[in-house]
Amino acid sequence: MATNITWHPNLTHAERAELRKQQGVTVWLTGLSASGKSTIACALEQSILARGLNAYRLDGDNIRFGLNKDLGFSEADRNENIRRISEVSKLFSDSCCVTITSFISPYKADRQVARELHEKDNIPFVEVYVDVPIEVAEQRDPKGLYKKAREGVIKEFTGISAPYEAPEKPEIHLKNHSGVSIEEAAEQIIDYLLEKKYIH
Ligand code: PPS
Repeated sequence: MATNITWHPNLTHAERAELRKQQGVTVWLTGLSASGKSTIACALEQSILARGLNAYRLDGDNIRFGLNKDLGFSEADRNENIRRISEVSKLFSDSCCVTITSFISPYKADRQVARELHEKDNIPFVEVYVDVPIEVAEQRDPKGLYKKAREGVIKEFTGISAPYEAPEKPEIHLKNHSGVSIEEAAEQIIDYLLEKKYIH
C-alpha cells in the first residue's frame, strides 16, 4: 500500500450522470466457460450502442492479453483478476458507460467485493448468471478446453478441476440452453435495465 497519498474529490456519480444525460451501470455476467457470456455480452453491447448510449465490454479472454497478462488460473490469480476488473468496471461505469463484464468470476466472495465497490459509490451493479449445466458447456466446448481439462493437459479448469460457485440471488438468471436465442437473452437484460431506468 502506498503512503503519502491523498484522495482528490471527484464529481459524484449522480452529478456526472445528470450532466452526461446517461447514468452508468455494470452488468456483470458470470458463468462457466462456454456458457455464452461473451456472445450475450456482444449482443447486449451492440443493442445498447444502437440506442445511442455508451457501452463497453470487458471480456475475460481479451483482458488476459493485456491488463491481466501476468495472471493465470490459480485461486489467488483469479481473485486478483476479478479485483482489478471490479475496479476497472467501476471506473467505466462511473464515467456513465454501460459496462458489460464477461468473466467466469467463479468465487462468490469476489463477486460480492465487486458489488460492494460499486454500491459504495451509488453505481448500480447487475449480476447476471449465465446458467448452463456443465454437461451442456462440455458438449459445446468451442475452444476444446474441456477436452484438454479432462485429459489433464489444462489444470485447475473451472467445473472440472476448479470450483464454480453459482450465484444464489442474481438480479437476472438466464438459463442459456433449452432453445433461448442470444437475442432473447440480451433482450431480457435490456428489459431489466429499462425497467430499473438504468437506460432509456
Ligand atoms: S476467471 O475465472 O474469472 O478468472 O476467468 P476469466 O478471466 O473469465 O478467463 C476465462 C477464460 O480463460 C480461458 N481459460 C480458462 N478458463 C477456466 N479455467 C481455466 N483453467 C482456463 N484456462 C484458460 C477460457 O477461454 C475462458 O473463457 P470463456 O469465455 O469463459 O470460455
